[in-house]
Amino acid sequence: MNKKALMTGGTVLACTLCAGIVWRFQRPDTVVPEYVFNYAENQTVDYPTTRGANRFAELVEQRTGGRIQILVQPEAVLGAEKDVLKQMQYGGIDFARVSLSQLAEIIPGMNVLQMPYLYDDATHMWKVLDSEIGDEFLELAAEGGVVGLSWYDAGVRNFYTSEKKITCLEDFQGMTIRVQESEMMADMVTALGAVAIQTPYSEVYSYLQRGLVDGAENNWPSYESMHHYEVARYYTIDEHARVPEMQLIAQSTWDKLSPEDQQIIRECAEESARMERRIWKQQERQSMHWAIEGGTQIIEISKEEKERFREAVEEVYEKYCSNDMDIIEEIKKKGES
Ligand code: GCU
Repeated sequence: MNKKALMTGGTVLACTLCAGIVWRFQRPDTVVPEYVFNYAENQTVDYPTTRGANRFAELVEQRTGGRIQILVQPEAVLGAEKDVLKQMQYGGIDFARVSLSQLAEIIPGMNVLQMPYLYDDATHMWKVLDSEIGDEFLELAAEGGVVGLSWYDAGVRNFYTSEKKITCLEDFQGMTIRVQESEMMADMVTALGAVAIQTPYSEVYSYLQRGLVDGAENNWPSYESMHHYEVARYYTIDEHARVPEMQLIAQSTWDKLSPEDQQIIRECAEESARMERRIWKQQERQSMHWAIEGGTQIIEISKEEKERFREAVEEVYEKYCSNDMDIIEEIKKKGES
């Protein structure tokens, strides 16, 4: 390249850089955001719900021309779900995706949608969440000082143990099982015959490793992404709970936004939820295969045995849903249609 060409190239580069700088300062509306919000997520970076959150943030940024920026903080850096919800009530955290179990601790009426052995399968659960029942429960979030934006999938939960396998109801006797920080989940495990220990999600691995619990329960992607398969290799498929998850915005953050921005936020949340639901299905299968290849042993329980599990937890329905049996019936009917 000759000297002249080199100088011309240099001039073009310098002009481009200057133009970029000038543009940055002349177009503050597209570059300097009006709002920067935080978003709490307790899963790993590539987990389906985190990918959904990132998509949500990206869509909001695009559709507001950069006026609203959402910073997704995965791996529970903003705290455990229970604390995140408290922070949201005080306005310290703007957005989060939480398990319904956690939300039910501050809004007991939410328990109805996560009762043990309630749904036949994922299709049944989605029929419910996509119906007016799902919308009513999103609205119910307001009782906790948060606004429900959309539903995320979290699959089906099963038990897994370190030393002793769960093959029948009697096997729960004498076991300690980690559950979410949820009274209902603790009562469910007690009704099955084990001792329930409530801990935050981030502590499950070490509880299993140190033998502080004999087992835990969760879906395939959590079991795989949190490496629980390394310390609890017996995975019993009893499908005891489908605990849906909600994308939330703090009420105080919501109130700051114009109706137009609120509408954008809702639409983007719904769009991200559709994506999460799609990738969830693939992840569930993939995680199961990876875990099995890594040495997980699956224990299938018979239909009859599952029926015994179901009967054992009936007392939990009496405690948590005696005033909501009409909704339970409605939910069950959706599985038949
Ligand atoms: C699932 C859920 C998490 C929750 C966890 C738990 O992985 O997605 O939000 O914290 O269960 O068992 O605590």
